[in-house]
Amino acid sequence: MIVGAAKETFPNERRVALVPAVIPTLTKAGLAVVIETNAGLAAGFTDAQFQEKGAEIVASRAEVFEKADIVLQVRALGQNPEAGKADLGLMKPAQVIVGLADPLGSPAEAQALAQKGVTAFAMELVPRITRAQSMDVLSSQATVAGYRAVLLAAATLPRMFPMFMTAAGTISPARVFVIGAGVAGLQAIATAKRLGAKVEAYDVRPAVAEQIESLGGKFVRFELETAQAEDQGGYAREQSEEFLHKQREAMGKVVAGNDVVISTAAVPGKKAPVLVTEAMVRNMDPGSVIVDLAAATGGNCELTRADECVVADGVTILGPTNLPSEAPYHASQMYAKNVVTFLMSIVKEGKLVFPMDDEVVRDTMVARGGEVVNPRVREALGLAPLAAPAPTAPTATTEKKGEA
Ligand code: NAI
Repeated sequence: MIVGAAKETFPNERRVALVPAVIPTLTKAGLAVVIETNAGLAAGFTDAQFQEKGAEIVASRAEVFEKADIVLQVRALGQNPEAGKADLGLMKPAQVIVGLADPLGSPAEAQALAQKGVTAFAMELVPRITRAQSMDVLSSQATVAGYRAVLLAAATLPRMFPMFMTAAGTISPARVFVIGAGVAGLQAIATAKRLGAKVEAYDVRPAVAEQIESLGGKFVRFELETAQAEDQGGYAREQSEEFLHKQREAMGKVVAGNDVVISTAAVPGKKAPVLVTEAMVRNMDPGSVIVDLAAATGGNCELTRADECVVADGVTILGPTNLPSEAPYHASQMYAKNVVTFLMSIVKEGKLVFPMDDEVVRDTMVARGGEVVNPRVREALGLAPLAAPAPTAPTATTEKKGEA
């Protein structure tokens, strides 16, 4: 059986789904590997490095799709809405496609994959259970995004981050406020601390206070009722407009007192909550910087424009939507490790298996046999549920969700 990876076709995407270091894991599992020529170059991996580890280099994308039984992508169709369509013409029935596919945000694309007869897996749907941490691409890529967000802020801010005591005077440290302390937010706190900034952070889930403090940040407490803030999966629940209004009121002073705001607040499957209003931005000192990591889902700041730089009263608001691609070497390394670990759930003794009693396989499978099979995606498409599969006995794979 053959696994393949091609060059990513989404504009400015520099990551690649496989890196040379993971090839031996695949070959040991009885899989041959084909890689499109120069697929890894933008991330810093050469054809020669892939070949050295046992992969075959092929001349074109079409050849990857032609030869491979399993195609690994960073951005599959739903995450690559324009260029990704061309892949539909290259796919073969029963071929396995694994990648980020945004099936809940782009269900029509999931349906297009189903219509091609491929078996498609969306890596966004890996459940947040302990056993699946090594396959969790949202976490690995959010780690990169949180880190890069701080570097972007540091490079844009007209001040320096660390405190300096020099013969030319004392320079006070930059003040950074991180909103949302999930995976990206915690990495932003750690990175800003390493650069010497004074860091405060806030999250609607009070459980994260300890994590913020363990990284050297100060948890900002607002007098808001947050008992219902967290769902069973450890994610934030959507809050009422009344709650968000109170939150913005409480946060205004903290935002104005900081040089940098890194916002990462997200509610899975929903538009990002607006937490920083235009009035709050205009109260910040000129030169201040906001990096809004929620830009792709509408932004946490009212003024954010995805992938644009907005300046309001001297405050710069950046809304980058693909920061993992800015550190493509390590983002690809982690992505490849995640996806290859996942692959080991559906390849046993060199053959494809789809163990539907494994919740990782069950939750991530979007399309199979011409149908959209994932219940959440079917619901998003307005399709009736498929007939329930025969009940399986509970297995050891059922674990508590939300343990990072
Ligand atoms: P995310 O990207 O969905 O959201 C980022 C952060 O924004 C979250 O911490 C959320 O609480 C916060 N937020 C949402 N609305 C907000 C508001 N109105 N004000 C302030 N903050 C707000 O979250 P992410 O980073 O993907 O992970 C969230 C949870 O998932 C955490 O509990 C984490 O521990 C858990 N997790 C579990 C894993 C596992 O067990 N395998 C792996 C990764 C994360």
